[in-house]
Amino acid sequence: MLSDSLLSSEELAERAVESYRENFQASPAVLSQAPGRLEILGNHTDYNKGFILSIALDLSVVIAGGQEESRPSRLAAWSSGFNERVEAGLEEIQAIGNSWINYPLGVLREIREAGSRLPSINLAVESSLPVGAGVSSSAALELATAEAAYGMLGGRPATPMEQAQLCRRAENDFVGVPCGILDQFSSLFGRRNHVLFLDCDTLDYDRIPLAGSEVAVVIADSGVQHELVDGKYARLRAHCQRATQKLNELLDREIDSLRQVSLEEFLECREQIDEEDRKRAEHVIRENRRVLAGVEALRRGDTAKLGELMLQSHSSSRDLFGNSCAELDFLVESAAELPGFIGAKLSGGGFGGATVNLVEQGAAVDFQQALEESCSKRFAAPARTFLTRIGDGARLLGKPPGS
Ligand code: GLA
Repeated sequence: MLSDSLLSSEELAERAVESYRENFQASPAVLSQAPGRLEILGNHTDYNKGFILSIALDLSVVIAGGQEESRPSRLAAWSSGFNERVEAGLEEIQAIGNSWINYPLGVLREIREAGSRLPSINLAVESSLPVGAGVSSSAALELATAEAAYGMLGGRPATPMEQAQLCRRAENDFVGVPCGILDQFSSLFGRRNHVLFLDCDTLDYDRIPLAGSEVAVVIADSGVQHELVDGKYARLRAHCQRATQKLNELLDREIDSLRQVSLEEFLECREQIDEEDRKRAEHVIRENRRVLAGVEALRRGDTAKLGELMLQSHSSSRDLFGNSCAELDFLVESAAELPGFIGAKLSGGGFGGATVNLVEQGAAVDFQQALEESCSKRFAAPARTFLTRIGDGARLLGKPPGS
């Protein structure tokens, strides 16, 4: 599926305004946008207080929003993707089953807890993000909701990092997904043609230009549903936690995260750690080093080295972290054989979802087609690929027409 078939931000914005008018018989007051993300390096390092490298995509969620004084206050939200309008009370905010409205609802609850009064709110949501492909459409929905709400109600937090953390809390505490900060950070801090670096302990970050504009990003969706809510993600977190506790006993100083353990220290005592916990920890400790090597490679403009590190990261997720699957492995192995290939790995939680591919711009369309073909020969559900670019982070768009 070529990127041409995906809607541009302008088209999304037009549709959002139209959907808003149809659903709420009024013009929206604000338009906001937030992108999806891909993880370049740093698989499952975020909640271990480690390092990550990521990008925001040129694919996003756009929201047209408005407010009313109707009482009791409530959220009414329309999503074209789900072809559904859902309403929920805002006086006492409660989750509605597994509905997508829980993401905006969770964000609004956090915004109220931060001191804003919530009127009745209407949202029309449009998206060019493939749902379930592991590109964080949920974080994009959270960030676009927050942007729309601040645009209407004010009350923006003092720093963008606080906004990312607020949205993460909505996902952790309200939706119930125990994710780290990667998705919300990337969706908010993204910048065109830049790779984002985050130290998840200190929350220091940087935006590093990706040498030249000749690198295309191809998302390859394995078609295998990945679910963060189904417990596999939480189990991986628990392994990391146990390994941390064990290392805290074994080392003669106090540690509370895998980030604080050097590879040398780990190798000295690894035999004393339960096998599964040990493998998960080894992945995280080595992955943190790969991220730092990736930062150096980016600063040198050495994209070939970055690509090598991505392949190593994928192998480590597969062999040590145990969160790959046959389809993701096949996608990465096939990609590595194709002309124009720079690097590929699984992105995000794992067990399905998408791989991220960095490809030389001129070869990207052929690369996509060849990858889809080789997949359709091997698997019943052929992979979908999307050609995109590195995009900007979440923001308010200009005033909607007629507002
Ligand atoms: C998911 C989570 C992130 C991160 C990645 C793995 O995308 O939402 O916080 O843990 O998995 O790196």
